[in-house]
Amino acid sequence: MTEILRRTPTGELKWALAQLFDRSAPTYERVGVSHFDALGRQLVEHAGLREGERVLDVGCGTGAVLVPAALAVGPRGSVTGVDLSPGMVERAREAIAEQGLTQARAVVGDAETAEWTDADGTATGPADGSFDAVLAGISLFFFPHPDAAAARYRTLLAPGGRLAVSWWGRPDARWDPVFAASAPYGTASAHRLPDDSPFRSVDALHSLLADSGFTGAETVETDCVTRFQGPRQWWRWVWSTAGRQFWESVPDGARGEAIAAVNAELDRLRAPDGSLTSVNKVRFTVARAV
Ligand SMILES: C[S@@+](CC[C@H](N)C(=O)[O-])C[C@H]1O[C@@H](n2cnc3c(N)ncnc32)[C@H](O)[C@@H]1O
Repeated sequence: MTEILRRTPTGELKWALAQLFDRSAPTYERVGVSHFDALGRQLVEHAGLREGERVLDVGCGTGAVLVPAALAVGPRGSVTGVDLSPGMVERAREAIAEQGLTQARAVVGDAETAEWTDADGTATGPADGSFDAVLAGISLFFFPHPDAAAARYRTLLAPGGRLAVSWWGRPDARWDPVFAASAPYGTASAHRLPDDSPFRSVDALHSLLADSGFTGAETVETDCVTRFQGPRQWWRWVWSTAGRQFWESVPDGARGEAIAAVNAELDRLRAPDGSLTSVNKVRFTVARAV
């Protein structure tokens, strides 16, 4: 894996991302909040997978997309999940084994270039035209060059194959004060999009896809409703996601004050039963390889 990343100019950035997700991996989607698994099932529905299809799941994480995709294509199909983070891949492999999904596998690698490490440690990758669908669940905006990734997926897809991507739309404005309260204390954010990111608008993503050799891009936007029992569960959830990167950047001496500032805002958001709910827009974009 290090060999693969050493060859790319953005290798250091990806290495840091792999380590970030390694730290999230033990608790990712395991704090009693259903979030990524529900989004994964929706992405698979939007992709319209059929029995027997060959699927590449890029940034597969713990298997939120990979598992429902493997169930959709059945034992005659195949799903390969690729992720930078060995910890996430380990969790995906556990999920595959638990469900006895012989048609699925998860590998450690760079999904932007579609290169991964084989069991014997050698770098490898798929042949052109070897997939019917490429799925990217809440992952493509982390890649430094999503345009290069899309162009690569175009060649990996058989003619007429689909690329299906889930990504974030407008965040819940009611939560703005929570993030404003923490902002002065930390620096990093894995979620901050570059100014020229194609994930800033539907039109921008559609034009990237057209430029990369895809046709008929369509985007559906829905509400992603996430419910937390209360602030304690919200905090555990934040640390189980890439959102932990911000809190890791808060200096130890400021952490107590930052947490208190956020808790004051969380209290204002609580429903009468003490729970917290966020309603963020999520988008599902599907396009076809020309
Ligand atoms: C928010 S998680 C989503 C995981 C999963 N698809 C899901 O829906 O739960 C983003 C994942 O993308 C992976 N990732 C980011 N950049 C990547 C890259 N260049 N190659 C492979 N995986 C990458 C991260 O390691 C992480 O597991």
